Amino acid sequence: MNMTKNVKMKKDMQAYWESLPEVQSVLKEKVTADPWRLTYHQMPVTGWLNDPNGAVQFNGTYHLYHQYVPETPNGGATHWGHKTSKDMVHFEEETIFLSPDQLFDEDGVYSGSAFVHDDKIHFFYTGNVKHEGDHDYTYSGREQNTIHVVSPDGFTVESREVVIAHADYPAGYTDHIRDPKVFEHEGVYYMILGARTRNNLGHILLYRSDDLYEWSYQGVFSAGNEDQGFMWECPDYFELDETGILLFSPQGLLPEKHAYHNPHTVGYLTGQINWDDFKFEVSEETTGEGQAWPAFRELDRGFDFYAPQTFEDECGRRILWAWMGIGDTEPEYSNPTVARGWQHAMALPRQLTLENGRLLQRPLPEYQCLRHNIKTHRLSEIDESTLKGEVYELILEFDETPSSFELTLRQDTQLTYQDGLLTLKHGESGFGRRKRMIPLADLSQLQIFSDTSSLEIFINDGEYVMTSRVYPKQDQQLIHVKGDAQGQITYWDLKL
Ligand code: FRU
Repeated sequence: MNMTKNVKMKKDMQAYWESLPEVQSVLKEKVTADPWRLTYHQMPVTGWLNDPNGAVQFNGTYHLYHQYVPETPNGGATHWGHKTSKDMVHFEEETIFLSPDQLFDEDGVYSGSAFVHDDKIHFFYTGNVKHEGDHDYTYSGREQNTIHVVSPDGFTVESREVVIAHADYPAGYTDHIRDPKVFEHEGVYYMILGARTRNNLGHILLYRSDDLYEWSYQGVFSAGNEDQGFMWECPDYFELDETGILLFSPQGLLPEKHAYHNPHTVGYLTGQINWDDFKFEVSEETTGEGQAWPAFRELDRGFDFYAPQTFEDECGRRILWAWMGIGDTEPEYSNPTVARGWQHAMALPRQLTLENGRLLQRPLPEYQCLRHNIKTHRLSEIDESTLKGEVYELILEFDETPSSFELTLRQDTQLTYQDGLLTLKHGESGFGRRKRMIPLADLSQLQIFSDTSSLEIFINDGEYVMTSRVYPKQDQQLIHVKGDAQGQITYWDLKL
């Protein structure tokens, strides 16, 4: 029998669907018993989750799709899992929306986005295909087709077809061209795609269309140099207060002082589109920290945050969803939930605003409905027995920037501020996550969301965020403050 056929047999979706319930029930047993399962974050039912996809609010319902491999916590050929919500806090698990069951996406329904037009949702995603043979799957052996799906309701698929076949991408690129995001300008539709050139630079390509079905290539929307990563994933373009924001996930930025310490990162450039040559022109303003790329500003300074995408909801807010995880972190750091049948989650959705040329990120106010049992103290009154908890929100408001401050949380996480540096440090519970730092002249406020195995730390009312998975042993409830900080601390239990 022909080998290729043999491999294709593996993609026989009937056999896949028949075996899935049993495979999932084995995983579910472990998942159900896991105290590290999060309480108010979105997770895979079983197996693996990565990027958010197709985020949209449609006729009042929020839809969140995501990269999903239900049969294993180690990832593989991804589906689009699907969750819906009326309030962005309480979610329903829906049937898997798209599976890798077509010849144009048989090795993964990769990431993509949603665009609402004429009361239908138009989804665009990357169909990943790996050909048999001696390939490295970067320079050869892979197809990444751009697929268009039309849905009347977010649940059913009316049509699903290739709109840009891999073979039709421009020359000079590796096989990595993916993650379509569509926006409209003056009645014309534009699509951006992340790309890796054959000499390993990150690019964003631009296509245009008059009808969402026929797309033509316009050129390179934005291009990186050798200091700016080897591939730009998950591009997103939107405007806030008439400023253009180009958000993307560059892979492989080299660490520079306190910036770019994760294998891949996320950040944005501000500027404007030049509609004469279809290029994104970066504003002169330098908002970032790195010398090599001063215009690029990182979005999160913790350990676990990647591949975000934004959408505008029906009340006009720009909301960002991100994967609370990153690829390629091993061997430095890992997630012990793999042994418990699942891996990764979504970070809390954030509302974006632009202030003084910089994006501020704040947790959605909807999450305040989880607050219970408020406790308020002066920071100076706190001793080790004052506050305790695992699943909570904390707000610290400083009277003035402290000269030294140390907050110990959970099992062995410390947040310190000293000599103008904010440092997040994990001990054993970080499973290899050690230290991340932010130079910060002023520290006025911290808002911390702790879940069973995650921490999200919003700094100075959304100026910076540090997101991290942590895996404390059970009943590690310490909340302790040291140093000369003056101010107030407010604590709430969070319950879904
Ligand atoms: C980002 C990413 C995307 C791709 C998807 C595959 O995490 O690599 O570029 O579409 O994940 O799961």
